Amino acid sequence: MSTQPIGIFDSGVGGTSIWKEIHKLLPNENTLYLADSANAPYGLKGKKTIINLSIKNTEYLIDKGCKLIVVACNTATTNAISVLRETYNIPFIGIEPAIKPAALNTQTKAVGILATKGTLSSELFHKTTNLFASNIKVIECIGEGLVELIERGQLDSDEMSALLKVYLKPMIDANIDYLVLGCTHYPYLIPMLIDLLPNHVKIIDSGEAVARQTKAVLEKYNLLSTKTIRPKNKFFTNGNPEIMQSLLDSKFKVDILDF
Ligand code: DGL
Repeated sequence: MSTQPIGIFDSGVGGTSIWKEIHKLLPNENTLYLADSANAPYGLKGKKTIINLSIKNTEYLIDKGCKLIVVACNTATTNAISVLRETYNIPFIGIEPAIKPAALNTQTKAVGILATKGTLSSELFHKTTNLFASNIKVIECIGEGLVELIERGQLDSDEMSALLKVYLKPMIDANIDYLVLGCTHYPYLIPMLIDLLPNHVKIIDSGEAVARQTKAVLEKYNLLSTKTIRPKNKFFTNGNPEIMQSLLDSKFKVDILDF
């Protein structure tokens, strides 16, 4: 069982930012990544649709023998992970915007959060925000159009920069000192965000924390891979494999997902 792969899914290429953290921390693990790019963005879909897509992705990964599933998508986690945990008998790791560390550490008492509509409107996000950030100013912004541009491979485009400028303006005006990235696609925007934000603003994403949690859960269930021979890392997409490939080292091959 321990040599079975870790399954990872996202609405598209964004979850590869999480896969990179997992692979860095757990290089002996076999992994299988599913990018449901044909259905991206999830962030504009209703809760029921997000749950159904998450079930479909999960069943594909379970069929392939995955021992644990990482829901590498804030939108799918905040809307669907409780259903997945109730339905399937394997461990699930989710990702949520890291509002807690930002709220605990802010000096200016103002933090920004950039995420999808599906995440920002979810019950889980509201619960976390009320719990940890009720005494500070939280400037929420829906990153409309960002996932679509990333899925099209237009990371460094003028359009991207123009959208980010609009989304960051109210945050900069409110003097935020932390920007929380609440979508796994957004770590790919960090170089551009650094250019556009004042120097004192720190950017937080949850990738490393997810990798640590994945390790802890594998340890807890005695599922850590102990094998030392070369692990397999497989990537499947029902979108454009070349765009996904451009985000990965060329030694990893992206295959078409017929789905
Ligand atoms: N990577 C997904 C997330 O973390 C993107 C959502 C989308 O497809 O809109 O929320």
